[in-house]
Amino acid sequence: MGKRIILADPRGFCAGVDRAILTVQTILKSVPQRGGQDGLPPVYVRRQIVHNRHVVEELASQGAVFVEELDEIPDAAASANIPVVFSAHGVSPLVKAEAKRRGLNVIDATCPLVGKVHREVLRFVREGYEIVYIGHLGHDEAVGVVGESPEHVHLIEHEGDVAQLDFQPGTKLVLLTQTTLSVDETAGTIAALQQRFPWIEMPPSSDICYATSNRQSAVKLVAERSDCVVIVGSANSSNSVRLMEVGQEGLDARFAAPGAPVKTGACGQAHRVDDAGELDPAWFDGVEAVGISSGASVPEMYVEGVVAALRAMGYTGMESVETTKENMHFVLPAELRRQVAQ
Ligand code: F3S
Repeated sequence: MGKRIILADPRGFCAGVDRAILTVQTILKSVPQRGGQDGLPPVYVRRQIVHNRHVVEELASQGAVFVEELDEIPDAAASANIPVVFSAHGVSPLVKAEAKRRGLNVIDATCPLVGKVHREVLRFVREGYEIVYIGHLGHDEAVGVVGESPEHVHLIEHEGDVAQLDFQPGTKLVLLTQTTLSVDETAGTIAALQQRFPWIEMPPSSDICYATSNRQSAVKLVAERSDCVVIVGSANSSNSVRLMEVGQEGLDARFAAPGAPVKTGACGQAHRVDDAGELDPAWFDGVEAVGISSGASVPEMYVEGVVAALRAMGYTGMESVETTKENMHFVLPAELRRQVAQ
């Protein structure tokens, strides 16, 4: 069939990322009314608005100032009513309280699907539950969710962590998860939890979001038809890294299957890049079919860049594997809509 590219669909932007970026862009467009005075920027953003280096650099070049913590924002920002945007990954109540104490003009761009997990924590704690939360230690989303009730939310990362949990029979126990986990890996951790705590309750609906599961299903099919996989996404993007792992699992399954093609050269590897500049030609040694997907925080232009670079290497055939059509959309944060309307 010759050298070809197999594109996963869906890939790239999810509704929560789209909304978070549009939030900052909308504020930047209203600069003359809202900021730029007294040496203050038009908008502050706490942490990376989404976990993508290019998105952050682009918004910073348009005037957005990114901070790690609120104490980097001067008090003058409160009196000048400069918007302070919370990222798509959400924040803990401590951060919200600090912003309120300082009178900051907060625009909360937390993805509504992350917000749903925060609300679940509050509800289950109110009902007397202990919560086992599968997430990545130190990830912004996990920090925010655990922060809702640090004494009742017990974070574990992997199946191997289940043994360290200790709950007496009769303890009301429920499972919640980060939105961007690997569906397959989480299933293994859930099975281990159910074995150790058979009475643990599952959430009303999976916390792994539609975008995460859709992108993983698509990349798995792509990998099963590819000789190597390239995921476009940043190293700190949880869902991009999971896509690379799922892509690797798909490749492993392909090459282990009966009658599988013989591995030659660099076949059988999944890679992650921020953009085409990080592609290494050695990865494509002996490779006929390159599968491509991108994380939920990745603008399509960086996928196009990777496709163009591969075309230049002779991958002129093009296929697409579509697993579902997405039509999810979230409206801008209410406080922003109110301020724009004023
Ligand atoms: Fe939200 Fe899922 Fe995207 S939680 S930010 S829709 S990856």
